[in-house]
Amino acid sequence: MTQNIDRYAVFGNPIKHSKSPQIHTRFAKQTGQSLSYTAELVEVGQFDQAIKDFILHNGKGLNVTVPFKEDAWKCATQHSERALRAGAVNTLMVQQDGSLYGDTTDGIGLVRDLMQNHNIQIKDKDILLIGAGGAVRGVLEALLQQQPSSLLITNRTKQKAVQLAKDFSDLGQLNGCGLDEINEMSFDIVINGTSASLQGELPPLPASLFRKNSSCSYDMMYAAQATPFMQWSADNGATKVFDGLGMLVEQAAESFYIWRNVRPETKPVIQFIRSLLIKT
Ligand code: ATR
Repeated sequence: MTQNIDRYAVFGNPIKHSKSPQIHTRFAKQTGQSLSYTAELVEVGQFDQAIKDFILHNGKGLNVTVPFKEDAWKCATQHSERALRAGAVNTLMVQQDGSLYGDTTDGIGLVRDLMQNHNIQIKDKDILLIGAGGAVRGVLEALLQQQPSSLLITNRTKQKAVQLAKDFSDLGQLNGCGLDEINEMSFDIVINGTSASLQGELPPLPASLFRKNSSCSYDMMYAAQATPFMQWSADNGATKVFDGLGMLVEQAAESFYIWRNVRPETKPVIQFIRSLLIKT
């Protein structure tokens, strides 16, 4: 590796399966930026030291994933408005004085994937978000900025959905409810933000969810095959069904933009990562 090249990395544990190095390496090549991007396995308890070492060795920016999201939040001395809202940081930028600026790019990643890659309009639509953890919190502001007609958060643990809706109630029209309260309801866009797909599970959902003419189902997770939620959506009337691979690449593009002030083209990179998934 060239000694003086600007370094970027994703810190996590585990980290082996991260697609971020392939994504950012493609972005750099495409935009003619000279940089390296690696996946770094960091031991639990060693996060702060790993950051210090990284900055000493020409580290300019980081993505942070499980289990270091809280550490990432704490080590940033400045946060973007949207990171403050989401209470989360997935992107760190090393500033001139060596301090860290924290931002979150998941929300814009989801909205760009829906609107630009899939041509789904959010404005004036009725949206259902399933789940009330960090993944959902991270996308609420960006969704509300698009002015949906309504946004309902439903969750296995009702209280978390109700609280989350309260936390964002100044930004738009939204409510929270339990999974057992959405019977007979229907929506234009249904987004799965639970971690259920990770375990190959499906939250219990009523067959009424998708509107007959046009309705879209989106799973924030992705896999080589359709997730259980995607399969269920297709079987229950969703006319368009998407996974979260585009969101992954779009949030990476936003991080890249924060670091380099250059916006990469995402479509060829989404296609490339999809082709890797199919091969593995
Ligand atoms: P993340 O940061 O990925 O959002 P999280 O904060 O642990 O992770 O949240 C996981 C979300 O998935 C929660 O909304 C959780 O529901 P509870 O709040 O009731 O725990 C939801 N979830 C996980 N597995 C689920 C399942 N099998 N069925 C329904 N919801 C599930």
